[in-house]
Order: sequence, then C-alpha cells, then structure tokens
Amino acid sequence: MRAVRIGSNHMIDVVELDAPTLTPDELIVRPVACGICGTDLHICQHGFPGTNYPVTPGHEFAGHVLAVGRNVNGIKEGDFVAVNPNVSCGHCEWCRENKPHLCNALTPIGVGRAGAAAEQVAVPGGNAFVVRESIGHGVAALIEPLACALHAVESAQGIKDRRVLVMGAGTMGLLTTIIAKHFGAADVTVVDPNPAKHAIALEVGANRAASPDELRDERYEVIFEAAGAMPALRQALGLIRKTGVLVQVGVHGVDAKVDINPFTVYEHELRIIGSNSLANQFAGAVDLMSDISQQAAKLIGDTFSVWDFAAAVKSMESGHAVKTQLSFA
Ligand SMILES: NC(=O)c1ccc[n+]([C@@H]2O[C@H](COP(=O)([O-])OP(=O)(O)OC[C@H]3O[C@@H](n4cnc5c(N)ncnc54)[C@H](O)[C@@H]3O)[C@@H](O)[C@H]2O)c1
Ligand SMILES: [Zn+2]
Ligand SMILES: [Zn+2]
Repeated sequence: MRAVRIGSNHMIDVVELDAPTLTPDELIVRPVACGICGTDLHICQHGFPGTNYPVTPGHEFAGHVLAVGRNVNGIKEGDFVAVNPNVSCGHCEWCRENKPHLCNALTPIGVGRAGAAAEQVAVPGGNAFVVRESIGHGVAALIEPLACALHAVESAQGIKDRRVLVMGAGTMGLLTTIIAKHFGAADVTVVDPNPAKHAIALEVGANRAASPDELRDERYEVIFEAAGAMPALRQALGLIRKTGVLVQVGVHGVDAKVDINPFTVYEHELRIIGSNSLANQFAGAVDLMSDISQQAAKLIGDTFSVWDFAAAVKSMESGHAVKTQLSFA
C-alpha cells in the first residue's frame, strides 16, 4: 500500500509499505479524512516526544472498516468510524485510574505507531467509535480535537453561567468556544492577534472577538490558554477573576518558564490547571459532535490529497486556514 512516511531526518516521502496485518484485537481502517495539527508539524520539523521514526503520521481521522479482528465486538466491516488515537496499555496505574492519556506506555497512532496518512491503518478495537457518516467525513475527523477541547472544558470544573476568555482562535480555541457556549457559558470572549481570525470566532458563537491589546481591566472566571504562546499565557495570568481558573491547553516548550505571583494565587484563590489530550472524552465528543457539527464544519479550511502531505504541512504552517485536512479520494 502507499503511505506517507516521515524519517528521523524529517524528510517527508510517499513510500510503498506492506499493508498492516489484521490481529485479533484490532481493525483495519481505510481512512477518508484526516486533520493535520501542531503535533504533525513538530513531528516533521524537530520531533515530538514519543515519535517512533520512521513514522506514518495522521492521528485525527475517520474512515471505513475494512476488516475486523475476531476479538473485537460491536464493529463490523463497512462501518464508518472515528478513531481515538491514544493507544494505552490498559494496566498501568494511570490506565487503572481511567486516565488513559497519561498511560506510562502511551503509543499514539500517527506518533508512536503507524498513522492514517496511508491507504490502510491498524486500530485497536476499543479505539474505534462508530459514527453517523452523514455528519460528514471532515467533521468526523474533527472529533479527536473536539475530545481534547471537551477535556479542557471539563477541566475547568464549571462553565455554565461563567464569563469565559479563550486565548487563541485556532482549532483548539474555537472548539473550546463552541463547547463553552453549548454548555451555557454566560459570555465568551476570544482573543487573537490575527484579526483575520475574529470573524470565524464570532461565526462559531463567541460573544466578542478582540486583539490582545484591546483587553484592559476586565477579569474572567474561566480562561483557556489555547494559543500555546508565551505572551498569551502572561496576559492570561493577569486576567483571572478572584476564585477563577486558568486552563493550560496550549503546549509550550519543555523548558519554557513564566513568572507567577504566589501572593496573588493565594489572595485571589486562583486555580491553574493543565489539560493534556483527550483523557476519556472520545465517546462524549462523538455524541457532542452530532449537536455541533454545523459550527465545527466552519473550521475546515484547505483540503489536500494525502499524497501532497508536504504541501498540506506548508499550508498549515502559513496559518491562514483554521484546520487543514487530508482527503483520500
Ligand atoms: N491540550 C491539548 O490536548 C492540545 C490538543 C491540541 C493542540 N494543543 C495545543 O494548543 C495550542 C493551539 O492549538 P491549535 O491547533 O488551535 O493551534 P493554531 O496555531 O491553529 O492556533 C493558535 C492561535 O493562537 C493565536 N495566538 C498567537 N499568539 C497569541 C496571543 N498572544 N494571544 C492570543 N492568541 C494568540 C494564533 O494567531 C492562532 O490563531 C497549541 O499549542 C497546540 O499544541 C493542545
Ligand atoms: Zn492533533
Ligand atoms: Zn497504561
């Protein structure tokens, strides 16, 4: 079969590989849509923790089931599935605590094992979720980032009637905005220095879209740092209302540091919470996507053939589309 492959030298190639072999606990899926995200850029540019080079990328995907292992229940050949890429071991302390995303032996599809930028991909049975194909192929491939955003909103421990600030109008910030509004946030402000992103923020339901320098003395009960940018984090730390919460969604460099005033954290009873990946929210995101698919579809920008993976990555780097996806026709 044909597959995209990124080598340890970070070169992107299209190569001929053996198709995956069906094992009793897995499925073989033929992908139909796959998103590209910051993780793929890291894998292409300088490496991402846990990458097993040479690797076939692609972890935000949906497709049709080609073959089903004999131990897999509830899924049959021809089903349309969205895939949770987080393959966990099932028996370490984190898996036993129902936090599979923190598994000591996590091997994500498209990072630690072969991903969807290929004609076929192997998927553990428990990682595939049957979805209604009528929601759209591209929308189904957005269920994975939606699950990450759902985990972020859940991490805030209360969103209804809250005054919310979202830093960053990329895929994560906009999906977080959609979810916050869906679950009854009183008001959502989205901040992005790129004015071209403001219109889409309003279109998916934000009450206000602004540039960072437009925020002055206001304070927010829930802030999502979904930019992964130091200026966004520094600004966010100064905008948390007393008893409020900052959810760290953006991924910063492993050595990045920021000043925190512990007196303010104490005096204002602030909470700063990290949200890593999708936890156990994939099934929840499948259900939620049925309700918000029309807003989510607005995020899909440029679509490239999977065999033009390098061009898709370039387009993603340019930052003008919110979500770049791959098609497999
Ligand atoms: N926690 C998770 O599970 C998870 C999942 C996916 C992505 N991420 C991370 O979340 C971050 C966002 O991901 P994305 O896919 O939406 O990226 P993206 O690049 O599409 O969006 C980031 C947005 O932030 C904006 N931005 C830059 N500087 C800013 C500032 N000072 N203030 C406000 N906005 C600013 C950019 O203009 C851009 O629109 C990245 O760091 C990514 O690695 C986290
Ligand atoms: Zn991703
Ligand atoms: Zn585990």
